[in-house]
Amino acid sequence: MGDNGSKTHWDNVYNTKGDNEVGWYQDTPVTSLQLIEELRLGLNDSVIDVGGGNSNLIFELTGLGFSNLTVLDISSSALNRTKKKMGSLASRVTWVVSDILDYESYNEYELIHDRAAFHFLTNPDDVERYAKWAMDSTKMGGYIIISTFSLSGPKRCSNLDIVQYSAKSLEKVFRKGFKLVKTMDTVHITPFNSTQNFVFCVFKRV
Ligand SMILES: C[S@@+](CC[C@H](N)C(=O)[O-])C[C@H]1O[C@@H](n2cnc3c(N)ncnc32)[C@H](O)[C@@H]1O
Repeated sequence: MGDNGSKTHWDNVYNTKGDNEVGWYQDTPVTSLQLIEELRLGLNDSVIDVGGGNSNLIFELTGLGFSNLTVLDISSSALNRTKKKMGSLASRVTWVVSDILDYESYNEYELIHDRAAFHFLTNPDDVERYAKWAMDSTKMGGYIIISTFSLSGPKRCSNLDIVQYSAKSLEKVFRKGFKLVKTMDTVHITPFNSTQNFVFCVFKRV
C-alpha cells in the first residue's frame, strides 16, 4: 500500500463529491485521447488506465471500438461510479480494485495510461516499484503514457502531497526499458475554473 492516501481516503472522496466537485475531472480527456490516437494502436490491443477513477477515458475508448480495456483503481466507489456512467458498456471492461503497488501483471499491455495517479507516490521505493511494474507489464514495442502535475503545477491534490515532475525527471524514473518519444505540457481547467499545469510523457517499451 502506498503511504500517501489510502483506499478509505479515496472511497470517502468519491462517496462525498460529484464529478464536478473534484479538481482533476474533465468531461473529455482530450490530451490523452489525442496521444492515444497518435499511437495507432489496434482495437484489440490491451490497454489499462491506472487510477482511472471517475475518468471518461475508458468510456471514450469503448466508443472508439477498443475491446481489451482495463481500469484499475484503489477505490471501489470510483469504479462503481464509472461503471454506472457507462451503463451496459461497462460489461466490456475489466474492472480491478487494487492499490497499483499490489497489482501483478506480466507482459500484458500494449498501453498503460496514468493521469494523476502516479504522482501520489511520494516514497522513492514505491516510485521504483511502479516503474518496475510498468516495465514488466508493457509488451515490447508498447507504450506508457504518464501524466503528472508539472514543476509549475500544484503541490497537493485531494489534500494529499504529490510529487511534481518535468519530462526530464519522468524520463529518469522510466529510464529502464523505456524510451521517451513525446512530451507535452498542458493546462487543465478544473471544474472550478482554476488552472493546473500538467506534463504528459509518452514512453515506448524498448
Ligand atoms: C486525481 S485522481 C485522477 C483520476 C483519473 N485518472 C483522471 O484523470 O480523471 C487519482 C486517482 O488515482 C487513484 N489512486 C490513488 N492512489 C492509487 C494507488 N496507489 N493505486 C491505485 N489507484 C490509486 C484514486 O482513487 C483516484 O481515482
